[in-house]
Amino acid sequence: MTLIEPLHGALQRCVDNADALIGLPDFPYATKDGRWQTVGASDAGFMPAHGSWTVGFAPGLLWLAYRITGDQRYVDAALERCARFTHRKGDGTTHDIGFVFTPSFIQGYRLTGEKWLREAALEAAITLAARYNREGKFLRAWGPLNSTERAGETTIDAMMNLELLYWAAEESSSRELATMATSHAETSARFLVRPDGSTFHAYAFDPMTGTPLRGFTHQGLSDDSVWSRGQAWAIYGFARAAQWTGSHDFTAVSGRCADLFLRRLAERPVPPWDFDSAAQDPLDSSAGAITAAGLLTLSSIHADRDAARHYQAAATDLLVGLTEHCSTALHEGHEGLLTSGTWHLAADFAVGEALIYGDYYYMEALQRLQELQESTYGAQP
Ligand code: GLY
Repeated sequence: MTLIEPLHGALQRCVDNADALIGLPDFPYATKDGRWQTVGASDAGFMPAHGSWTVGFAPGLLWLAYRITGDQRYVDAALERCARFTHRKGDGTTHDIGFVFTPSFIQGYRLTGEKWLREAALEAAITLAARYNREGKFLRAWGPLNSTERAGETTIDAMMNLELLYWAAEESSSRELATMATSHAETSARFLVRPDGSTFHAYAFDPMTGTPLRGFTHQGLSDDSVWSRGQAWAIYGFARAAQWTGSHDFTAVSGRCADLFLRRLAERPVPPWDFDSAAQDPLDSSAGAITAAGLLTLSSIHADRDAARHYQAAATDLLVGLTEHCSTALHEGHEGLLTSGTWHLAADFAVGEALIYGDYYYMEALQRLQELQESTYGAQP
């Protein structure tokens, strides 16, 4: 491993932590008093306050451990975990089916070529595609499709779920799935990204006509505030849409969202839960981890080499900040990797805790940074 301290030690901690996941009977989503709270494999994922949209991240962490070590134990454990929620491929209650299948089934298929992972993820993509509103050109975020409640609402988080559609489009040669994903990204760029590069958490359209109505928040401080995790999903989601499509417009949108995030972060090592919150309010380490991973993607696709270096340096700074201020290394016996995550402050749900997705993107970003450094300077023996 070539990462400099403190990041080299941090990546090794992530690998060690993956071992503890193998023994957990259920799916961890957030800690309480340093212990993982878990959700069962069969719970469907209607609202984001429930941990069921996060079941893909535990196998995702195991796949990352396998990528780093090549140890077959992680493959066996990840496959066993994925098998337990295969039935979620038919979960028609949430756009977050993308989060369920991307770090787990798609990553696992890429690493192992296991056919059943591919088949289930393709079916999940069809389930997600059914949420597409043709009039408004967006993916419906919440609720079962036979319910009219919240039928016209989408969210910036859905940018991350396009991965499932783009991947399935390539695997099955379905242009329609890719067109849908790109249309959703264009709609999000137009209505959820504000002129200054900040984002609305959510947006309401008339579900029958597709007429745009208003931006609002579900988990942020206010409708006009900048919820830091939503901003992080935008940075990463638009960078991935740019990578899949080759669109410079999406690269530019990701860059504008990143610039706003870094400007509002200023000298702070860890983002606040909402950039418009009071100084003493909780932080959200998961927003920092997602942004670090997104900035590395943005850096890898940016045509301007100075901008690319700037985004890679900003990602490194964020990872150092998270490691120095939020690492559970300072909390003996803590089961997560990063403290100070905020899931949903208004609902008083998992505030100041390790969050499984914060841990996942932290490990992913560290691993990607290591790969980038090895490709630049050569792997160390
Ligand atoms: N639904 C994703 C989040 O809470 O960030």
